[in-house]
Amino acid sequence: MYKSPRGTADILPGEQHYWRYIESKASEVCRLYGYQRVDTPVFEEAGLFTRSIGEGTDIVTKEMYTFQDQSGNDLALRPEGTAPVCRAYLEHGMDNVPQPVKLFYFAAIFRYERPQAGRYRQHYQFGCEAIGEASPTLDAEVIDMAWRFFSLLGLREFSLQLNSIGCRICRPKHLEALRQYYAGQAGGLCQDCTTRLEKNTLRLLDCKKPFCQAAADRAPKSSDYLCQECSEHFEHVKTYLKTAAIPFRVNHRLVRGLDYYTRTVFEIHPPEEAAQSALGGGGRYDNLIEQLGGKPTPAIGFATGMERIVLNLKKQQIAVPELPRLKLFIACLGEEAKLEAIRLASQLRQQGIPVLLSAGDRSLKAQLRQANGYGVDYTAIIGEDEVKSHTLTLRTMATSEQQSIAASKLVELLE
Ligand code: HAM
Repeated sequence: MYKSPRGTADILPGEQHYWRYIESKASEVCRLYGYQRVDTPVFEEAGLFTRSIGEGTDIVTKEMYTFQDQSGNDLALRPEGTAPVCRAYLEHGMDNVPQPVKLFYFAAIFRYERPQAGRYRQHYQFGCEAIGEASPTLDAEVIDMAWRFFSLLGLREFSLQLNSIGCRICRPKHLEALRQYYAGQAGGLCQDCTTRLEKNTLRLLDCKKPFCQAAADRAPKSSDYLCQECSEHFEHVKTYLKTAAIPFRVNHRLVRGLDYYTRTVFEIHPPEEAAQSALGGGGRYDNLIEQLGGKPTPAIGFATGMERIVLNLKKQQIAVPELPRLKLFIACLGEEAKLEAIRLASQLRQQGIPVLLSAGDRSLKAQLRQANGYGVDYTAIIGEDEVKSHTLTLRTMATSEQQSIAASKLVELLE
């Protein structure tokens, strides 16, 4: 028997109401903040991701699903949603419309990670990108939007972590300080951190290994190295968040796993925090559009993992509305009745009323069992007598009561 590949999952009908709920709350919050939906392809040129996420990152070096198509093009399954949206922004001349351009997406994301609870090789993200505005007002608004989204979902006790990792002017000084500091720790770092020291210095700060964490706690903080503009920007973001009554904690070790970030970075965490548990994260990426060939264009965004939201909705026992159930099953006995049943089902569907039509080849008892199994409220039974008298027998499943009604009255009764 085949199974779904390791790290992937089927979303069965019984789970779908969680997903529709999250999508409806996401769409609601996007409407409130003026975001429009965009859908980009599941795969892109691999270079788009290598360039934007960064060659030294875990995502690019270890986790990307890359392949060559029959024409020899190097492609990759989307390992994140920001770079494709920026590519679409540039490709479709969105730099020529009023800025910022605010876009949102639901997207399948692929990363070859070690699967565990809340971490998959295919997961879904709801993400937002606001492109073309540098003001810290937008940073606060994007964070406010993420916060409101989790509140609208009914989640409780989530928390916000915030940091600024500076810009291309001030970050090199911080990186130099980090290199010097970590050079003094040599021999006392894990294998990954020894590599990071060379290739991705900032990521030393968010190593999950306990020993490295202690070293990271004492490491030079990016906020101590910010240039005046970055420092003022960070102060404004904090002030605006306080004004919007959004509680946050500055976490000096928050650096995120993608290289494109500048200045503000943030993550939202559920109450019971485990490694890899972030509900969502994002930040500014003021150089990315330029890096992809556009003119200098500041931008900021965030994304959340939908599986992690489902996990937390369940953990917090939040009542999620069920999807509307089918109300009516049509059972029939005999060839004449079957024709009548087909006609009736077609007529009801024409009027927008959902029905389940029995194939009609089983006994009435078996068809009623089938109707029960589907959990419908009513079964319309059509037999020879009903065909002759243009009626049907309507059975209320909960009470087993039956009444004979004119076929023409069914719609009225159902409504
Ligand atoms: P990210 O932090 O890599 O950011 O992913 C965003 C969210 O996706 C995470 O906070 C987490 O909830 C979820 N997630 C990530 N990896 C997995 C996984 N393997 N399994 C399940 N859920 C996962 C980004 O991708 C950025 N593009 C976010 C962004 C948008 N920054 C600016 N704009």
